[in-house]
Amino acid sequence: MKKNSVYIETYGCQMNVADSEIVMGILGNNGYELTQQIKKADIVLLNTCSIRDNAEQRIYGRLGNLKKIKSNKPNMLIGILGCMAERLRKDLIEEKKIVDLVVGPDEYRRLPELIDSAFNGEKGIGVKLSRTETYDDIIPYREDGLQAWISVMRGCDKFCTFCVVPFTRGRERSRDLNSIIDEIKLLSSRGFREVTLLGQNVNSYMDGSYDFSDLLASSAAVDRSLRIRFTTSHPQDLSDKLLETIASNTNICKYIHLPVQSGSNRILEEMNRTYTIEHYLTIIDKARKLMPNVSFSTDIISGFPTETYEDHLATLDIMQKVRYDGAYMFKYSPREGTKAFKMVDDVSEETKSKRLQEIINLQQQISLEINQSLIGTEDIVLVEGESKKSELFFSGRTDSNKIVIFPATIGIIEGDYVKVKINRATSATLFGDLVEVISKRETEVNSIAV
Ligand code: SAH
Ligand code: SF4
Ligand code: F3S
Repeated sequence: MKKNSVYIETYGCQMNVADSEIVMGILGNNGYELTQQIKKADIVLLNTCSIRDNAEQRIYGRLGNLKKIKSNKPNMLIGILGCMAERLRKDLIEEKKIVDLVVGPDEYRRLPELIDSAFNGEKGIGVKLSRTETYDDIIPYREDGLQAWISVMRGCDKFCTFCVVPFTRGRERSRDLNSIIDEIKLLSSRGFREVTLLGQNVNSYMDGSYDFSDLLASSAAVDRSLRIRFTTSHPQDLSDKLLETIASNTNICKYIHLPVQSGSNRILEEMNRTYTIEHYLTIIDKARKLMPNVSFSTDIISGFPTETYEDHLATLDIMQKVRYDGAYMFKYSPREGTKAFKMVDDVSEETKSKRLQEIINLQQQISLEINQSLIGTEDIVLVEGESKKSELFFSGRTDSNKIVIFPATIGIIEGDYVKVKINRATSATLFGDLVEVISKRETEVNSIAV
């Protein structure tokens, strides 16, 4: 009997979410079936992340659980995909004996072959990184829905000194523009309403003479009722042309994730981020002149080696200056193989935690102030479905990526665009009342019963 039932669990960033869909696309083309129930699976795959130590510890914890399941089901294969496959191949195979397959991000095409060898008792290992693989001919497996991720480039050449990504994902390469546009057309015809273009550093996208602005403009032209988002932008390469493209296309969301990492120029240099705070602020200024309503989010690391209290204050200061709508905030975690790993991790755990807490508190206060300033205003919301807490309410998202909760209304379904007037706000959520329907979703595939 062919063993063909696959269960996949995804950790880490959106690139991994998109990669799991590619993996399912490849396996689906080779006769494998997906299952949502681990107990029914012949093959269990974990698509893993190495970005910080706690991300890897979670996976080790999960492998501990799987070991128990496998003891009752000895023929079940366990595979590690993604970034940990690159970083820890030896350790995973030799020390975690329950792992049968280790396959890195550029070798997913070989999965069917590697699964076969694993069933034949050999370990299936594929961890070569490629300079060309972009999976542009693979149609990712996607359930029907509203929102889709599309990888437009892979790898990273920036080598920020704290980061494992250039080692786990290899060199930067862009996907063929036409293949991306074809995928967006397909998503539009299936009734999707939002597409996020993904890359570690989308601004350095290049296909022949087409840059990321050209890709964004072409993506937006496919279907004007399809929202286009993108992430992540590196501050070094964010061009005026890109800002003008965002400003001049109504369906490109006016929301830019622009990781600053630190407010101190000295630390930015130690991180090899290749921009100064002054340059960073010029981009923010230019964007706000062109698009007064543009929102920003960021990533911040606290406690990078040699960070002083003054450096930390500089981080709080840049947060006050930019006033981000949201931030992802982390304690520095040393990663073996990176340049910063050779520096002494000299900020104590206690200081890292204290500084991180101050950063989080400040961001919460800023988010609350920004959200409260929206009370009384109206905004367009893409309806995503029932709110998590109550079926009497709908939940949706604004162009600036804020969640809005409003009373459920007969005749409105997920995928509709509606105008909502905001009447209450917390630091994480806006609440409002329906003003009017702006546009209905044409394919009513997922109507919500009210
Ligand atoms: N390519 C993106 C982000 C990649 S990783 C960019 O350049 O912005 C997402 C975030 O994780 C990074 O922005 C950084 O803030 C954080 N991060 C990466 N390595 C880290 C480490 N060693 N310790 C703590 N945070 C880290
Ligand atoms: Fe990591 Fe820097 Fe590349 Fe982002 S740009 S993935 S932080 S090396
Ligand atoms: Fe993690 Fe790899 Fe993404 S390290 S953040 S899964 S690129």
